[in-house]
Amino acid sequence: MKYKELAKTGEKVSVVGLGCMGMSAAYGKADDTESVATLEYALDLGINFWDTADIYGNGANEELISKVLVPNRNKIFIATKFGFRIRGDEGDVFVGGESYVDASPKWMRQAVEDSLRRLKIETIDLYYAHRVDPNVPVEETVGAMAELVKEGKVRYLGLSECTPEDLKRAYAVHPITAVQSEYSLLTRGVEDAILPLTKELGITLVPFAPLSRGLITNKLDVSSLASNDFRKNLPRYQGEYLDNNQKLSAAFAELAESKNCSPAQFAIAWVMAQSDNIIPIPGTKRRKYLEENAGAADIELTAKDLEDIEAIVRKYPNIGPRYSARENKFVKK
Ligand SMILES: NC(=O)c1ccc[n+]([C@@H]2O[C@H](COP(=O)([O-])OP(=O)(O)OC[C@H]3O[C@@H](n4cnc5c(N)ncnc54)[C@H](OP(=O)(O)O)[C@@H]3O)[C@@H](O)[C@H]2O)c1
Repeated sequence: MKYKELAKTGEKVSVVGLGCMGMSAAYGKADDTESVATLEYALDLGINFWDTADIYGNGANEELISKVLVPNRNKIFIATKFGFRIRGDEGDVFVGGESYVDASPKWMRQAVEDSLRRLKIETIDLYYAHRVDPNVPVEETVGAMAELVKEGKVRYLGLSECTPEDLKRAYAVHPITAVQSEYSLLTRGVEDAILPLTKELGITLVPFAPLSRGLITNKLDVSSLASNDFRKNLPRYQGEYLDNNQKLSAAFAELAESKNCSPAQFAIAWVMAQSDNIIPIPGTKRRKYLEENAGAADIELTAKDLEDIEAIVRKYPNIGPRYSARENKFVKK
């Protein structure tokens, strides 16, 4: 594995991280035994930048991770998030539950204690506001998060899916180490303003869903997704968009194979090639995929590769919106 400094922290994290959400939420049935084996294998592979959130499985993901985190605390850089809640604190934020954003200092105080208890650690390495709260000035949220740094409960701060304006306002209150936003071949919104701004401010951009939630791997059988799989309700997995995206993924896979790598590796390498300040967190709950994804660290794309990839995306432009109205309302424009 190769390592890279997380923005201005002196911390070396693996150039390919690990998204843990799918182990407990969003993508069908959990298999805790394989998930724990995957976390342990991540240690063997040197993947030390792990991502979770309080809302993934309503705390179940943090509890699962604690099994491997606690005995290996010094080997793992753990990131978690707060700010999504479910009305009545019941149900699933991804499917069916009535979710809302609460990034108020009052909720953050409870959320951080809950995360520390579930993770069974004393300090969270990187603590993100999962979304910027439309009802709370970002200065208040980040001001409260900065108190947690002073108290030693968290080490570094991050924002997820923030606007450039929010990021500037937040940064004026306390240094922001990482911005986590969706970024993949199929989701390129950050290229307009967030990516340039993170470069300017010296912040790490952590692309989530770098595999387009599995779509770009050309291995996802959409017809067999479980009934509670979050992707079933997303526009890209339906109708004309799905048709476009399957053709795009098939062409991408063919190109990847001609370069002797898997489509997943090619897609992760593409994200990493976009800027030096990028550290993606591909998600998996399987050792097999984890090992494959780790291989992306050694893939260097040429200018010709990048051109060939762009040509495929141009050929299949009808990708569709990344979210349905339900999820879109949590993303500030
Ligand atoms: N900040 C936010 O709002 C936000 C939102 C979404 C996600 N995230 C974070 O970002 C992480 C990554 O995103 P994501 O998991 O949603 O999407 P992703 O990384 O784009 O894709 C995950 C999907 O790809 C599949 N996959 C992984 N490696 C593969 C391979 N080599 N070949 C074929 N399929 C492969 C996984 O299958 P299996 O599940 O079967 O392994 C899973 O279905 C999450 O785990 C979470 O920590 C953050």
